[in-house]
Amino acid sequence: QYRDRVQYQCEDNDCTLRISDLRESDSAEYKFRFITNDPGGKYSGVPGVTLTVTDLQVQVSRSAVRGDFKSADLKCESSCPDNLSYIWYKNEQIITGQTSNLLLNYLDPTNRISCAVRGYENFHSPSVVVKDVWDVTYTSTQVCAFKGATAEIRCTFRYPSTINGINTRVVQKFWFIRDENNEPVDLKTESEYKNRVQYQCKNNDCTLRITDLRESDSAEYKFRFITNDPRGKYSDVPGVTLTVTDKIIFSPQLQVHVRRSTVNSYSNWTELTCHNNCQLPDQSSYIWYRNGHKLSSDEQYLHLNTFDSADSFHCAVKGYEQFPSPTVYAPKLPSVSVSPSAEIVEGSSVTLTCSSDANPAASYTWYKEDVINPLIYQNQHFFFSILPSDSGKYYCTADNDLGQKRSESRTIDVKYAPKLPSVSVSPSAEIVEGSSVNLTCSSDANPAASYTWYKEDVINPLSYQNQHVFSSILPSDSGKYYCTADNDLGQNRSESRTIDVKYAPKLPSVSVSPSAEIVEGSSV
Ligand SMILES: *[C@@H]1O[C@H](CO)[C@@H](O)[C@H](O)[C@H]1NC(C)=O
Ligand SMILES: *[C@@H]1O[C@H](CO)[C@@H](O)[C@H](O)[C@H]1NC(C)=O
Repeated sequence: QYRDRVQYQCEDNDCTLRISDLRESDSAEYKFRFITNDPGGKYSGVPGVTLTVTDLQVQVSRSAVRGDFKSADLKCESSCPDNLSYIWYKNEQIITGQTSNLLLNYLDPTNRISCAVRGYENFHSPSVVVKDVWDVTYTSTQVCAFKGATAEIRCTFRYPSTINGINTRVVQKFWFIRDENNEPVDLKTESEYKNRVQYQCKNNDCTLRITDLRESDSAEYKFRFITNDPRGKYSDVPGVTLTVTDKIIFSPQLQVHVRRSTVNSYSNWTELTCHNNCQLPDQSSYIWYRNGHKLSSDEQYLHLNTFDSADSFHCAVKGYEQFPSPTVYAPKLPSVSVSPSAEIVEGSSVTLTCSSDANPAASYTWYKEDVINPLIYQNQHFFFSILPSDSGKYYCTADNDLGQKRSESRTIDVKYAPKLPSVSVSPSAEIVEGSSVNLTCSSDANPAASYTWYKEDVINPLSYQNQHVFSSILPSDSGKYYCTADNDLGQNRSESRTIDVKYAPKLPSVSVSPSAEIVEGSSV
């Protein structure tokens, strides 16, 4: 199977195996062997080189509702080691880089997404369209209920209206907690749930009701629907985790939910809810803490009209103060990191990362100081091939419902080799012998260039300065001149410039021919 695909190349004791047109089946350990004229002189080296041939693939690991948007987690899958750097493309345009994971907001079926490993950009994964046509969305992922009570678990589902031109019909809908022979088992057929389970569906909105709850009902419940098309079966994981308890357990169920007025940007009205997934007795009262100090409110909701973004809040249920909620607070000063941290050179790839401590987690935005619109609504801003014009000051903001914080500005200074130097001659008019003439060389470079002047027929440089000065130019200075500009990153040479020195007639000389004795009648 390696026929016509393998070449050996050796130079002295340095040998190369080249395998072309790689297939995944070429993944193997390759060893080298040599045999000498002596029958005992045979040798191979182990371990050899393990070659892994991989296909890149975009895997959609999960799609979920975040806020008002459907979003999806994508992974660029390969069997290559995980420390590779990746590039993501949307419709063949680079969108971001670096990690093998991509969080895609706004699922748009017209977008084709693909990925590549940095350095191997010619080998893209096949494009995928991330659609959300098949979907089950659970109203909550955690449900907590007390023993003996009734639990309700809800979902909505979606499917394409036609499959291969045939109208889709849902032929079966059920809930399940386990598989048998890879097929989900309808909860209604499980003996422990007999007479305790009800399904209710209204359009695409389905509810599972389990009555007379037992602690053994604690499990992950998933919904499945089956359509008239044999392949049209769908369930979504993770499902809903039901916890049945006979004790009041709070941690980690208790959470502060934040709602901010969106009426206008000046309004500071904020509502905090001490939220718990387990239904508490109605008469429970709550304790609120601001910056660790108790507030007077004992309601489940805390309304704040004024609000300092330095404040932090948490809550607890009275009687169970030892199980407080986690603390919520506005983002702390975001920190900015630039990778690589060393000198940034034109054409290299650079990542700016913003991070801030915040609860709930912050969302990030990147800005450039002289650009009005945000650069990107992500914690990372990525330059695939940075340009000198990308130099400037960058900052990010971190936002959550409790506030916003802006990072300090970070200066990006893109270094580059000298651009083509330009030559100017002063004065620009005719150059006359004896006048003073300046040749000036200038080139755009970062760091600034150092300059050298040359005359074409002269081996040694004329001067190591951007300006070459003739304080009194001579006719012999006529000729072609050029300069070079140098910095740590390279050199560039200007075009040649001709200097033509004009001068008045020199002392005329007189000659008499023939120079010998002159005789009457000869011509002179
Ligand atoms: C010199 O500058 C020109 C134009 O700025 C650029 O295209 C070229 O690559 C540079 N040459 C070198 C050797 O850097
Ligand atoms: C040459 O440059 C010097 C300064 O570097 C300036 O003083 C002088 O006037 C210039 N001469 C001409 C002819 O431009």
